[in-house]
Amino acid sequence: MSTSRNRIILDCDPGRDDALAIAMALASSAEIDLAGITAVAGNVPLEVTYRNARFLRELCGFPDLPVHAGAARPLVRELETATRHHGESGLEGVEVEMPARPIESHRAVGYLAETLEASGDQEITLVAIGPLTNIALLAVERPELMAKIREIVVMGGASTAGGNVTPAAEFNVWADPHAAAVVFECGRPLIVHGLDVTHQVLAAPRHAERLAGTGGEVARRLAPLLHPAAGSRGDRFGPDRSPIHDPCTIAWLIRPDLFATESVAVAVESEGTHTLGETVVDWWGVTGRAPNARWVTEADGEAVLALLTDRIAKL
Ligand code: RIB
Ligand code: CA
Repeated sequence: MSTSRNRIILDCDPGRDDALAIAMALASSAEIDLAGITAVAGNVPLEVTYRNARFLRELCGFPDLPVHAGAARPLVRELETATRHHGESGLEGVEVEMPARPIESHRAVGYLAETLEASGDQEITLVAIGPLTNIALLAVERPELMAKIREIVVMGGASTAGGNVTPAAEFNVWADPHAAAVVFECGRPLIVHGLDVTHQVLAAPRHAERLAGTGGEVARRLAPLLHPAAGSRGDRFGPDRSPIHDPCTIAWLIRPDLFATESVAVAVESEGTHTLGETVVDWWGVTGRAPNARWVTEADGEAVLALLTDRIAKL
């Protein structure tokens, strides 16, 4: 089952799994009209995420895709990257070339605003797979445009899975909890792919080998991204297994039937000593708060990985 075509803007911090999400989106033009990419600081500093987004559009054969740089740091916190996990290049395992196209713009929020202004109501879906700083800045600077967004598909947060940066917090929300709090309260429909579901999408060496063996040059060059990163934490998921986070958002847009969701009220902790960045999910409705998110609870992990492979093999 596929859905009607989704016109999206992808906000990201490439980042190893972000790169797979970008390629998967570009390879899925029947379901996804990728209008443009906005880069944010997160896994690695902004100049690297911006460089990588521009490199990936050229690698995938879309040199004219708009790519704009956004926030170089979180709203309040200092920037803390995940270079240990993604490498200094942000794409550890991939041979990265300097993009041929010159730097275009550092105005991601302006690009988001202009695209929304020019679009019809409920036409644009924002897919956010890094810290939510750019999306929060849009909500703060241009609140009147938020109503034009169809939905915001987020990779971030964790509840039953526990955190991956602290026991309570997932990286994207922990990196900029104040931005996440703004976005989770912005009033637009949220589809949240947290660690609860991404930990069900576990790549093994055979998945990387299959992607590399599909014959496509992009697939061959990005296949190492399905291997665990050098800095990953041992084998919490079993030998050589690693969760593939960001592509879950793209798979959702193509095949929502591969996932299950629950409508819940979610709050973001933006102060706690031990719980900073926690996404507090009210599973039993004890707060009386109206649901503000569809929390993705289950995925058919093998089917998601097969979809990723089949799509990227087309590039
Ligand atoms: O916690 C996983 C998330 O943090 C992914 O988006 C990964 O790219 C990092 O940004
Ligand atoms: Ca990311």
